[in-house]
Amino acid sequence: MVLSRALRPIAARSLSTATKSAPAASATPSVGLAPPNAVEDVQVTAEATAARKQEMAKAAKAKVGGKSGWQAFVSGALDVVRPVAAAAWPTLMPIIDAPSQKRVRDAASIEDLRKAAEKRMHAMTYGYLAGGADEEIALRRSVSCYEDVELRHAVLHGVGHGETDLRTNIMGVEADLPFFVTSCAGQRMFHSDGEVATATAAAKHNVAMALSQLTTSTFEDVRGAAPNHAKILQLYVWRDRVLLKEVLDRAKEVGFTGLALTADFSWVGNRERETRTGFTVPPNYSWRQTVDAMKSPAWTYDFMSRVPYGYKAVPDADFPAESLVDFIAQQMKPEFDWKDAEWLCSEWGDTGKVALKGVARGEDAKRAVETGFDTIWVSNHGGRQLESSVAPFDVLPEVRAAVGPDVEVIMDGGVRRGLDVIKALARGADSVACGRAYLYGLAAGGEPGVDKALTILSKDCHLAMGLLGCRTVAELKERAPEILLVNQASARRQGGIFQGGQAGKVLQPCLQ
Ligand SMILES: Cc1cc2nc3c(=O)[nH]c(=O)nc-3n(C[C@H](O)[C@H](O)[C@H](O)COP(=O)(O)O)c2cc1C
Repeated sequence: MVLSRALRPIAARSLSTATKSAPAASATPSVGLAPPNAVEDVQVTAEATAARKQEMAKAAKAKVGGKSGWQAFVSGALDVVRPVAAAAWPTLMPIIDAPSQKRVRDAASIEDLRKAAEKRMHAMTYGYLAGGADEEIALRRSVSCYEDVELRHAVLHGVGHGETDLRTNIMGVEADLPFFVTSCAGQRMFHSDGEVATATAAAKHNVAMALSQLTTSTFEDVRGAAPNHAKILQLYVWRDRVLLKEVLDRAKEVGFTGLALTADFSWVGNRERETRTGFTVPPNYSWRQTVDAMKSPAWTYDFMSRVPYGYKAVPDADFPAESLVDFIAQQMKPEFDWKDAEWLCSEWGDTGKVALKGVARGEDAKRAVETGFDTIWVSNHGGRQLESSVAPFDVLPEVRAAVGPDVEVIMDGGVRRGLDVIKALARGADSVACGRAYLYGLAAGGEPGVDKALTILSKDCHLAMGLLGCRTVAELKERAPEILLVNQASARRQGGIFQGGQAGKVLQPCLQ
C-alpha cells in the first residue's frame, strides 16, 4: 500500500509506538501522536509577502549603507566599467582564460582540477570553496577515510568493455551514473556561468543534479539547461514559513520533484581559512583583495564584466547577493526541529521524494523515516560545519543498519575519485553526491571544467567496476562483503576500532 506523505508520519509513529514495550506515554516521541491538522497550514498572503519585501529592502539598504567610502567608490567605479568590460568579453576572455582552459584539458585527476581552480580563482573565493571548519580535521578525514578500505577483485570474470551499467535512480531521477552533482551555494562566485554550467555538464553526462536554495542562477535557467537532471532542490532550515512555502510552490511549478532539507547548517561553521584569505561579502576592496584580484586576471575579468550575482531562489530578491547576506543569515533557524521538518515534508506532499541531508547517526536516520522523509542523506557538509565531525563514509554502515535495506541512502563528503564512489556504494550508499570535485572543475573552466570532472569520475567508476568484475550497482552491493575490506594497516593504526567494542558498531568493515 502506498501511503500519501501526509499520512506516513502518523502511520510510522503509530507503528513504532505500538511495537514498543515501554508504557505508551514514555514511548511517544516528542513529535507526538499529533493529529493530521497539527501540521500548520501556511498561507502565502499579500501582506506577508509585502512585509518580507520591506524587511529585505531594509537589510539590503543597511548593508549598502554600511560600506566604507572606499568600498562605495570602487563598487561604483566597477558599475561604470562593467558595460565596457562586457562588450570586450567575447574578444578578451578567450585570450585571458586560455591558460586555465589548457589546464582543464590537461587535467588527469580531480586534484589537477583543484590546482587549476586555485590558479584561476581569487584567493578569497578559492578559500571559501576549498576550506573547511576550524583546522580542517573533519575535511581532511572526510577525504582520507577512503584509504582505510581496500577492494578485492575477482579474476577471469568475463566483464567486457561497455558491459558495465551504472544506471541508478537518485531520488526519482533516472541517471546513468551512481554519483551526482550536489547542492553548493553561490556558484556564479566561482565562474560567471555558475549553476547553468553545472547543469549543462550534468545533462551531457546524464547525471542528476541537486540545486542549492542559495543558487545564483534562476530555477528556470537551471531547469532549462538540464530538464531531466536538475530535479532536486535543497532547502535550508529557514525561519519564515511563508517564504519557504513560496520557494516550494515555485519549485513545484518549474518541475523540481525531489527536495532535500539540509539540517547541519542551522549554525554557521567557523571557517578559519576564510579569515586568513580575507574573504568578505561584499568585497571590501582592501589592498590585499586588490592585489589578489590582479594575480587572478581571468577570474577578475569574469567578475567585472558580468551582471553581479544574486540569490535567485529567494522570491522578490532583486538585489545583488552581497546586499542580502544579512537577511539570509537572519533567516537561518537553529531551533528548526522535527516538527518543522514534518511540516516541510507535508508541504512537499506527493510531489516526489524528500531527503534529510546532514545525517550522521542511525537514530536520527530512523526518526527521519518516521517523520516522513523518504531518503537519508549522510553528510557532514563537506567538513565545513562541525570540526572533527565523523566522516560520512565511516557512519554509513550504522545508518544503513538503522533504516534497513529498503530506504534510499545517499552519502557525500570527500569524494575525489570514482573509486571513492564505488567504495561508498559497497559500504551501504545507494548513490553518492559530489561537491568540490565538480566545483573545482567549474572554477577552473566553467562548463568544460565540470564536464572534465564528470568525465574523470565516470571513467574511474566504470574502470573500477570492470576491474572488480561487477556489471551493475546491484551486483556490486550484493558482492560487497567479499569486495570491501578494511585495510589492515589502518585497522591496526586505529587500535582495533574496526573490530568489536562500542566503536566497532559504527565502523564495521563493510556492509554485512
Ligand atoms: C562551496 C560550497 C558550498 C556549499 N553550499 C551548500 C549549500 O548551499 N547547501 C548544502 O546543502 N550544502 C552545501 N555544501 C555542502 C555540499 O552540498 C556537500 O555536502 C559537500 O560539499 C560534500 O563534500 P565534498 O565537497 O567533499 O564533496 C557546500 C559545499 C561547498 C564546498
